[in-house]
Amino acid sequence: MGSHITFSLILHLLLLILCSLNQPSFAFTSQEYYEALEKSILFFEGQRSGRLPSNHRVTWRGDSGLYDGSSYNVDLVGGYYDAGDNVKFGFPMAFSTTLLAWSVIEFGSSMQKEVENVRAAIRWSTDYLLKAATTTPHTLYVQVGEPNMDHHCWERPEDMDTPRNVYKVSTQNPGSDVAAETAAALAASSLVFKDSDPTYSSILLQTAIQVFNFADNYRGSYSDSLNSVVCPFYCSYSGYHDELLWGASWIYKASGDSSYIQYIRSNGHTLGADDDVYSFSWDDKRAGNKILLSKEFLVENSEEFELYKAHADNFICSLISGTPAFQAQYTPGGLLYKGSESNLQYVTTTSFLLLTYAKYLNSNQQNVVSCGTTTLTRHNIISLARTQVDYILGKNPTNMSYMVGFGDKYPKHIHHRGSSMPSIHNHPQKISCNDGFQYFHLGSPNPNDLVGAIVGGPDSNDNFSDDRNNYQQSEPATYINAPFVGALAFFSSKP
Ligand SMILES: *[C@@H]1O[C@H](CO)[C@@H](O)[C@H](O)[C@H]1NC(C)=O
Ligand SMILES: *[C@@H]1O[C@H](CO)[C@@H](O)[C@H](O)[C@H]1NC(C)=O
Repeated sequence: MGSHITFSLILHLLLLILCSLNQPSFAFTSQEYYEALEKSILFFEGQRSGRLPSNHRVTWRGDSGLYDGSSYNVDLVGGYYDAGDNVKFGFPMAFSTTLLAWSVIEFGSSMQKEVENVRAAIRWSTDYLLKAATTTPHTLYVQVGEPNMDHHCWERPEDMDTPRNVYKVSTQNPGSDVAAETAAALAASSLVFKDSDPTYSSILLQTAIQVFNFADNYRGSYSDSLNSVVCPFYCSYSGYHDELLWGASWIYKASGDSSYIQYIRSNGHTLGADDDVYSFSWDDKRAGNKILLSKEFLVENSEEFELYKAHADNFICSLISGTPAFQAQYTPGGLLYKGSESNLQYVTTTSFLLLTYAKYLNSNQQNVVSCGTTTLTRHNIISLARTQVDYILGKNPTNMSYMVGFGDKYPKHIHHRGSSMPSIHNHPQKISCNDGFQYFHLGSPNPNDLVGAIVGGPDSNDNFSDDRNNYQQSEPATYINAPFVGALAFFSSKP
């Protein structure tokens, strides 16, 4: 009885908070969300590998990795460094690309002129992924750089001289996870370029289909094929089933080809359609896939996708305190908390999924989410996303924005080689592997702000230590930013 009263009390308090957030006294104006949007996209320019174009805006960066692949007779110049190091990891690069593309697909109409910059950010990746996927038949190049050697150095990308080993998956050494995620990235991106560059769009889709067939026909995890060079860095802990379903779903979206519906129908149950998973990341695509496919039921009225809507509801309910499905943990300051390492990646993916689901629900006024006896409207769902976005931008107990260059107070000692060392343009002399550590150990702020970078974020008590050594909290990553681009676009369009 007592616990029931407490339960209803918490529920009412929560709904009160959600409702009060609906009142128009928001932490940020739509102009401020738009400024954050611009910066979140600019961040990707700071992560570029390869030859920088003349319109490159991150002036402290220079060309790097210009011979990537050459000793293997393959051109793998370009693409992105994943985080604060100089390795090009294909698995998170592909996921970041899929999420950037999904951001444009759902919220591109709110991006105004920034849509050009996001398309450029996507293309920087897809140009690279196309080379990685089409150079050799039945082979996908999935990584450039030996991570153990790279991590032993503190070097600017422009100086890097660690081994640029090239790693691939093939019919003998399969990698269905990385290959199907690459297929998802290419297929989602083909939708982004459908109108602006139809030729490029169709190349992306054709390549996506080839890479997906390779992923599906030669099954295995790249963690088994490549082990110590991908694990523990971007080990595929969740296996490859989730990516096969995700890749097929995106190709269906992009092509409309009903054979992919048939694939989803026949294989869904063995590829994770019945699982409830409560976080969405570069490793595990199941929660995102539920939201993605729920659109077929909510918007397209396709009954056979009701299963995905039911699991999408479970995901949403898991975030709402006081409901029977509640699974989440929040900090005292209200931040979703999944773990001590790079926690904000889960916050940005979750915020994006909440807003995307709210958009799909909006197609029909009858649509709500039922969590036991609690009914959530799209407004409740948007309000929860807003608390998370606002927390990241500075409405939190430390009053710190976790986006570099946004607001008055933001992280100044991020764990990022290029940001923490003098620019190649100010200090053209090479700084070698070990010599770079003098900059790592300096107490002073990084000389180059990596504007727009969102770092790993605070701990379970809302504490954050702005310390280069604390990579769990102070390192940025492309997959933290990518879904945030969509979330910021959504809020920037709200008056
Ligand atoms: C954060 O800002 C609020 C409102 O301006 C202020 O009351 C509070 O003391 C600040 N907290 C910190 C830790 O600076
Ligand atoms: C972390 O936060 C808690 C609660 O706000 C506080 O009591 C504690 O002193 C903080 N720890 C550090 C190391 O700042």
